[in-house]
Amino acid sequence: MKKVEDYVRSIPDFPEPGIIFRDITTVLQDPDGLKLAIDGLKERLDGVDFDVVVGAESRGFIFGAPLAYEFGKGFVPVRKKGKLPCETVCAKYDLEYGSAEIEMHKDSIKPGQKVVVVDDLIATGGTIEAAIKLIESLGGEVVKVLFLMELAGLNGREKLKGYDVESVITYPGN
Ligand code: PRP
Ligand code: MG
Repeated sequence: MKKVEDYVRSIPDFPEPGIIFRDITTVLQDPDGLKLAIDGLKERLDGVDFDVVVGAESRGFIFGAPLAYEFGKGFVPVRKKGKLPCETVCAKYDLEYGSAEIEMHKDSIKPGQKVVVVDDLIATGGTIEAAIKLIESLGGEVVKVLFLMELAGLNGREKLKGYDVESVITYPGN
């Protein structure tokens, strides 16, 4: 019986020397891989009381929307700056070189809503730390943070201290 990690393709030295790129396209394109990935995330929400799933553009959309659908909840996108048409809140976060900004619609989360945050990967944790800031600025309560993959060597969890963080696959390095 194959596991979801068997479907991840690891590419050494991409996009630069020393980095192993964890490619999820090989998970997604295989019906068993896709099912294992969604089911792996889904089982981590068993018994969790929540109202809405938030996913980070773009790979977080792939996993967040089917999870929301499975549980009969709504899905809210965190988008890269400049894509959302109505009033937004915005947060800046650091990338390896430079920085980026993400946004959410101001009316996307209602005060007191219990939020599950989903992304494909936690590396440095910067993306989801910024997403959580936005959710909380709108009055949302983050009850769970879920990743398909975690690069434990980069200590992204340090940025998410105090939150209930789970990953389906953990890689020890970066
Ligand atoms: C990647 C990945 C995560 C984030 C993880 O997204 O999908 O969202 O980086 O890195 P971090 O933990 O260091 O913030 P990317 O910004 O490459 O965009 P994409 O999802 O649109 O491919
Ligand atoms: Mg991403």
